[in-house]
Amino acid sequence: MASIPHMNKTILITGAAGFIGSQMADWIVGNHPEYEVVGIDTLRGGFPENVHPKITFYKMDAGDAELAKIFAKHRPVYVYHFAAYAAEGLSPFIRTFNYRNNVVATANVVNQCIAYDVKRLIFTSSMAVYGKGKPPFDEEAAPAPIDPYGIAKYACELDIEVAGEQHGLDWCVIRPHNVYGPKQNIWDKYRNVLGIWMYQQMKGEAMTIFGDGEQKRAFSYIGDCLPPLWRAATDPRASKQIINLGSGVFYSINEANAVMRKVIGAGKDVHVEARHEVKNAYPTWQKSERILDYHDKTNLADGLAVMWQWAQKQPERPQFVWPEYELEKGLYSFWKKND
Ligand SMILES: NC(=O)c1ccc[n+]([C@@H]2O[C@H](COP(=O)([O-])OP(=O)(O)OC[C@H]3O[C@@H](n4cnc5c(N)ncnc54)[C@H](O)[C@@H]3O)[C@@H](O)[C@H]2O)c1
Repeated sequence: MASIPHMNKTILITGAAGFIGSQMADWIVGNHPEYEVVGIDTLRGGFPENVHPKITFYKMDAGDAELAKIFAKHRPVYVYHFAAYAAEGLSPFIRTFNYRNNVVATANVVNQCIAYDVKRLIFTSSMAVYGKGKPPFDEEAAPAPIDPYGIAKYACELDIEVAGEQHGLDWCVIRPHNVYGPKQNIWDKYRNVLGIWMYQQMKGEAMTIFGDGEQKRAFSYIGDCLPPLWRAATDPRASKQIINLGSGVFYSINEANAVMRKVIGAGKDVHVEARHEVKNAYPTWQKSERILDYHDKTNLADGLAVMWQWAQKQPERPQFVWPEYELEKGLYSFWKKND
């Protein structure tokens, strides 16, 4: 028997006060006002100012049992699960938190999506799942993560896939890479290299580069990613697909820093201890063009110029420092307390 069409027009976004979640909510409110947006967020990594006034917002952990009540009340048709703590380099030092917050919380979201017949779950995984693989990373490549964050994202992907096989949950897994732009958290010293540099520049500090800076990464402007994220939910071709999302143009960290200094018109860099990270990480993008109509429209200099304008208008906030690491052994000097 054909399934009954989902009549509801509500979309649930987890991580709605964060960077991608709040940008997605703004985009849906602006482009698809026929949908009601409901958001949840712990506000640990995002900010109330990011939350669009037209959305219904709950301060809540995605791993919380209370999430069932949100699903029961709003009956979302699509769920964007963005909530995560994406500090990849820090994840070996906050291991149990990483798995609880990323894997266990995702399991709770998956449970509710199955129980409430969500039409599609869109999960933002990460390029971190490719780990030691050989770039450019293709979606068909076998995952080989090198840190707990990448392992957590891969575990979530597998769990979602299995929920699809056993319970018929429809899903789309997106693997974004180094997305940047306005509303990104620039006050967290553990993640988002471009945002860290902007914060350091505004504080009159040198911009830190880990190791020799020759590691290569691709950077993706948020505005280019939003329409494809919409199609990840709504296009039949995105059903049960894993898709890389973002720019195929890669830079060494030194080159990206040179672009940043040009955009800012000032700044200096300093090399610090190398981290445990992959040397080169950049993906293929053809599948995103084909299925999600992704276009790499915004080059790094132009995207950074927009973000820098925004960053300078932001309120003063203290830089976030993890209150108590789970493990101090092997911690890099630049993250030790009382540096
Ligand atoms: N920005 C990128 O470059 C990038 C790249 C690859 C993958 N991703 C993934 O995209 C998603 C969004 O990333 P972002 O850059 O917007 O990060 P972000 O930190 O700006 O947003 C995440 C939001 O989730 C919230 N959150 C964290 N754990 C939560 C929980 N258990 N329950 C409820 N809320 C919680 C945080 O408070 C934050 O507001 C994440 O899953 C991240 O792993 C991002």
